[in-house]
Amino acid sequence: MEKELMALRDAATQELVQANDLSSLNELRVKYLGKKGSLTAILRGLGGLSPEERPRIGQVVNEIREEMERLLAEKTEELKAVELSRRLASERIDVTLPGRRPEMGHLHPLTKTLDIIKDTFMRMGFEIVGGPEVERDFYNFEALGLPKNHPARDMQDSFYITEEILLRTHTSPVQVRTMLAHPPNHPIRVIAPGKVYRRDYDATHAPMFQQVEGLVVDKGITLGDLKGTLELFVQEVFGKDVKMRMRPSFFPFTEPSAEVDISCVMCSGKGCRVCKGTGWLEILGSGMVHPRVLEGGNYDTAVVSGFAFGMGVERIAMLLYGIDDLRLFFDNDLRFLRQF
Ligand code: PHE
Repeated sequence: MEKELMALRDAATQELVQANDLSSLNELRVKYLGKKGSLTAILRGLGGLSPEERPRIGQVVNEIREEMERLLAEKTEELKAVELSRRLASERIDVTLPGRRPEMGHLHPLTKTLDIIKDTFMRMGFEIVGGPEVERDFYNFEALGLPKNHPARDMQDSFYITEEILLRTHTSPVQVRTMLAHPPNHPIRVIAPGKVYRRDYDATHAPMFQQVEGLVVDKGITLGDLKGTLELFVQEVFGKDVKMRMRPSFFPFTEPSAEVDISCVMCSGKGCRVCKGTGWLEILGSGMVHPRVLEGGNYDTAVVSGFAFGMGVERIAMLLYGIDDLRLFFDNDLRFLRQF
């Protein structure tokens, strides 16, 4: 029995000394000291020995086990140290490597365009105001001379929430709201940028788009003021060489009304695909504020007059950046957006 034990100890010690990685150490631990290990088996078999032998052999087995545990612990430390120095020798942190740059985003082309428009009017002394996107039928249509069943409503049919409340189809409702927010006849010089909604969807129309409304009301405001203001705007945004023209038009809330064109930014007015050979591009609607709109805002038509205009931000952006499909603005395709 004792001989057997000594042989077992020698074999185990030898194997332990030779082990050269942590996983074979673990295998050895299982092999000898595990639940089904050989030393454990001997301890279990002690019951079959005579009462005189039992304590002696038991003590030997325990000594062997303690020694093996000590050896295992030592060897584990040793192998861990070897592993650490191997990693320290081979793995290096190169502190001279350049850092990883976080990817920087940038403003959307529509935001840039809106910033340019706002900046241009602010430099002319305009204030920026806003109005609700969910609007009353009254401000969106009625107060602007578009009673229910007016045929011009069809052009801007929108998304109704109730019969009296809808998503605004243009920023013009801000005109009356702004006047009502001021004491009667108080001078106004504002732009009102914002989102508007229409039942439309193709290469040049989206169900949601942005407009910038302009409103100037004061004593003695004339069509000449409207023309001068817009001419300055056009030259600031598109350059000094761009020409502007006004064509008679109709809006129920302005009288007279004018559609404003600029000479084609693609062909400088010679005629091309973008301007459909005409040399001109329409950029906004405008006119002198209709007396009934002024009255709706509690302004006295005998004392003040005003002009208004409304432009589409997407349209201006398309012309500024030479984009031919408005839907690109909303697709969020990075291959497109990264170009700006
Ligand atoms: N609201 C008009 C539109 O959306 C544009 C406009 C604004 C025309 C102000 C005249 C005056 O088409």
